[in-house]
Amino acid sequence: METERLVSGWKRPEDWDVDASLRPRSLAEYIGQNKVKEHMNLFITAAKQRGEALDHVLLYGPPGLGKTSLAHIIANEMGVGIHVTSGPAIERQGDLVAILTSMQINDVLFIDEIHRLSRSVEEVLYPAMEDSAVDIVIGKGPGARSVRIDLPPFTLVGATTRAGMLTSPLRDRFGVISRLELYETVDLQAIVERAASILAVDMDEGGALEIAKRSRGTPRVANRLLKRVRDYAQVRADNFISHDVAKNALALFEIDENGLDYLDRRILVTIQRVFGGGPVGVESLAAAIGEEANTIEDVYEPFLMQLGLVQRTARGRCITNLGYEYIGIAPPEEMDG
Ligand SMILES: Nc1ncnc2c1ncn2[C@@H]1O[C@H](COP(=O)(O)OP(=O)(O)OP(=O)(O)O)[C@@H](O)[C@H]1O
Ligand SMILES: [Mg+2]
Repeated sequence: METERLVSGWKRPEDWDVDASLRPRSLAEYIGQNKVKEHMNLFITAAKQRGEALDHVLLYGPPGLGKTSLAHIIANEMGVGIHVTSGPAIERQGDLVAILTSMQINDVLFIDEIHRLSRSVEEVLYPAMEDSAVDIVIGKGPGARSVRIDLPPFTLVGATTRAGMLTSPLRDRFGVISRLELYETVDLQAIVERAASILAVDMDEGGALEIAKRSRGTPRVANRLLKRVRDYAQVRADNFISHDVAKNALALFEIDENGLDYLDRRILVTIQRVFGGGPVGVESLAAAIGEEANTIEDVYEPFLMQLGLVQRTARGRCITNLGYEYIGIAPPEEMDG
């Protein structure tokens, strides 16, 4: 069937396709995360040699570190198809059964935000993951019977920012559990350089380094900053991103030398000023700032903790001495005995 295309005089903004083009397609293109890559490479090679599906993989870590990219890469490297969905998108058991029964042998099923699957949908996954089968109930009342449908072998790749929110029966059924870490500056620099060459942006090493340093350990942030610095360079700096151009652009966007933005500083100042330095629970902190507690926990906190500016204790978040230094306030004196 021919698909008719309507001409509306409207053009897709360039940025829409850019994000897809920046996505690494193979393990070789996937920069950094060397431990995870080495492990995946080994498991993929072994599964391919045996002609089997790769064991189920759980990827977890803060947003923007490359979980979705890695899921696609796993399917690519295995040479199989991928079906993409997410926890909140699967509302009923039947939705998941429909996906599972449509898969080809050894295919990848990618479930993003897998911690948001409902319990009843999750129950369909257990026999699917363990025995490659689903049990469906036909009919209602006393005449109802359960029928088992065999599935082709497949690989479930689950991604989550919250491994702790997975139920243990689900977590235990993953054969490979990989934690993605925030990226080192050298790796981010390589990611920025790769993205710049795909986007045909002129940039020198100093420019790439400056963007990398301010990307809070996160490739998605690195790509976003690159695009904004590109805008700045286009309008104000002859289309070339030098060290100085990157520095000036990022200063204009209020991203400081360590990559902290307005909200990061606000979190530090609020803990200090409103909560006496802490400890403060994430809900109270979120209310004081007017942000979602989830966003603070997933996006802001990991980076503030990595920089050693905030500490998480059993009673809540505290600002550290380094954190005090950062906002230019003397830490309170240690109390004796
Ligand atoms: N290792 C990497 N090498 C090169 N680019 C990367 C890498 N990891 C991520 N990226 C870039 O960062 C972008 C974000 O990655 P991705 O969407 O895979 O993150 P994610 O972990 O799934 O995030 P979220 O949790 O928010 O869904 C990708 O489009 C890609 O351009
Ligand atoms: Mg993703």
